[in-house]
Amino acid sequence: MSQRKITVTAALPYANGPVHLGHLAGAYLPADFYVRWRRLRGDDVIFICGSDEHGVPITIRARKEGISPQELVDRNHALIRDTFDRFGISFDHYGRTSDPLHHETASEMFSDLLQKGAFTEEVTEQFYDEEAGQFLADRYIIGTCPVCANPNAYGDQCEKCGSTLSPQELKEPRSALSGNPPVLRPTKNWYLPLDRLQNEFLNQYINSRDNWKTNVLGQCRSWLNEGLRPRAMTRDLDWGVKVPVAGEDGKVLYVWFEAPIGYISITRRLKPANWQEYWTGDAELIHFIGKDNIVFHCIIFPAMLHLYDHGFVVPKQVPANEFLNLEGDKISTSRNWAVWLHEYMDELPGKEDELRYVLGSILPETKDSEFTWKDWQTRINSELVGILGNFVNRVLVLSGKFTDKRVPDMPGFAPESGSPVAEIWKETDQAVLAAWREMNAHIEAFRFRDALAAMMQIARLGNRFLAATEPWKMKDDYRTRAWVLDRGLQICACLQLAAEVFLPATAARLSDQLNYKPDAATRKQYWKNGLEWPLLPAGHELGEAGLLFRQVEDEVVEQQVKKLQSMISTHSAEMPEETAAAFPPALKDTIQYDDFAKLDIRVVKVLTAEAVPKADKLLKLTLDTGMGERTVLSGIAQHFKPEEVAGKTVLWLGNLAPRKMRGIESEGMILMAEDAQGRLHFVQPAGDAEPGSTVS
Ligand code: 2FM
Ligand code: ZN
Repeated sequence: MSQRKITVTAALPYANGPVHLGHLAGAYLPADFYVRWRRLRGDDVIFICGSDEHGVPITIRARKEGISPQELVDRNHALIRDTFDRFGISFDHYGRTSDPLHHETASEMFSDLLQKGAFTEEVTEQFYDEEAGQFLADRYIIGTCPVCANPNAYGDQCEKCGSTLSPQELKEPRSALSGNPPVLRPTKNWYLPLDRLQNEFLNQYINSRDNWKTNVLGQCRSWLNEGLRPRAMTRDLDWGVKVPVAGEDGKVLYVWFEAPIGYISITRRLKPANWQEYWTGDAELIHFIGKDNIVFHCIIFPAMLHLYDHGFVVPKQVPANEFLNLEGDKISTSRNWAVWLHEYMDELPGKEDELRYVLGSILPETKDSEFTWKDWQTRINSELVGILGNFVNRVLVLSGKFTDKRVPDMPGFAPESGSPVAEIWKETDQAVLAAWREMNAHIEAFRFRDALAAMMQIARLGNRFLAATEPWKMKDDYRTRAWVLDRGLQICACLQLAAEVFLPATAARLSDQLNYKPDAATRKQYWKNGLEWPLLPAGHELGEAGLLFRQVEDEVVEQQVKKLQSMISTHSAEMPEETAAAFPPALKDTIQYDDFAKLDIRVVKVLTAEAVPKADKLLKLTLDTGMGERTVLSGIAQHFKPEEVAGKTVLWLGNLAPRKMRGIESEGMILMAEDAQGRLHFVQPAGDAEPGSTVS
């Protein structure tokens, strides 16, 4: 009988930017731990991922950069793929959804469903830009928010008040492409009847998932309780997988319809001859994702597979994680509040396992968690260096000194039963074997934080064993000393095996230092049936001792924190990448000259500029206004250093009502220009207009 096939997927990252630590902690790192573990157990597992290269945000980003969507995804796909590879995420294949094989697979599935009558067809009125000659995705429509009157709200959301909107709700809508008011035009799209599928399949499917994580089931149940509605599976857009229906040009498959099919098409790339075996029969399908992807993987994709009815398995497990925060704030790509993985590796080469360890220890498995550079340093110094590295190094150095760099070969020797050494080992032995079993059980149940803690516990037990037996003091009893070191070496070998799941570079170093290269059958035996001493045979020759990890100095942490703070851009509200499509923003409503004449704008000179304590965005400026000095608080601290501002001649709105911030009264406002990248520029009179000069 052929072995059961396991397909493990990690969410296909959007190819509109690089990956950051939040992505890693959400899906890729736990998936990698899990797959490495299953491989070691000898399972027939494949690890599938690839770039998600379609969808509106990619078209918007490409427009902003003045390149084609294909150029954009080519660049990002290569960057993401290489970054994962350098970081040791061990995909069996990292594919992409622009692959023709993906287009073929997704089209085939759509056509099959269409032909089965699985979709409903609906004609709806959608906004259309007559000048650009295309229908407008919600993000491409800008107008006034019906809730807060923000003139630059999007067709799906107002960034200012956070309301979820539909394009029809916007007042005075305009196209982000031409700036013209769009017109409504009827268009046909195909819908997945999720309402019908809820009763037919989904309620039962979700309710029978009793071993899913609570956070995942909670979200699914809340969707089901609200009652599912039909969802369009096609879009009027020209970037994506074309709708395979004659005469329906200008329509593509909804990105969330075709992206999960990417898991299938990428399997086809990996296993052209027998890919079906990984998707049918008793195959196990496991999706690692972040919490924002739950509905697509637990509801929509299973519904599609169910309707498709080609014997495909539905997801068995979806161990979704919550979000990772960074230094006290949500990770935000638009504000650049993120640690980018490729930059981490460029700036901290050789510290991949350190990051795997720290992120693995704080994975947001049941609730959001937080990464800070300080905590990164502490965990490296006190756990990796202080416990794991220290233990292995002590054992190897002592073995070099006292056992001729070999596993002692003393047939029949054991310390006297009931002696302190024998008793300490008895306890240590049981505790190590228990920690090994727990580690295994935790991985099996997708509790990787606990599993990693169990690995560190083994090193801690090793250290305690050394501290309690003090082999370096056993001058006269060289046989007991060698016996103790033998136990220490066996624990080191056990740590080598565990590191193969979590810390691959460390596992390789340990393998060299111990000269320990267990074969596949041995590893499988230990991972499936438990450890059995000895791992290292008597007389085995060891390799060279060396340091596994190095202390991280405070300066490294300071540099990283500083970099993070200097890179953050100062958008007042959180604005997604897509905001860039609205540049330059449309003109505000027309005003009369009288309205303008009310503004008293003057030329002023900045005399002094200083930081405001506890307000990282504000600078306090003293101005020479030609009519005496005034104080203004300006929200430019993350763009300019005080010394870059002092001495500048700039424009000042002088008759703005004063406002108190941080206990300081701000009188008026400095005028600034903001460019497409969100950078600020001073507005300065040409020539040498003196302070007090009026502007009209
Ligand atoms: O959220 C995301 O990054 C999506 N690109 C994930 C897609 S997962 C799958 F369905 F392809
Ligand atoms: Zn609003």
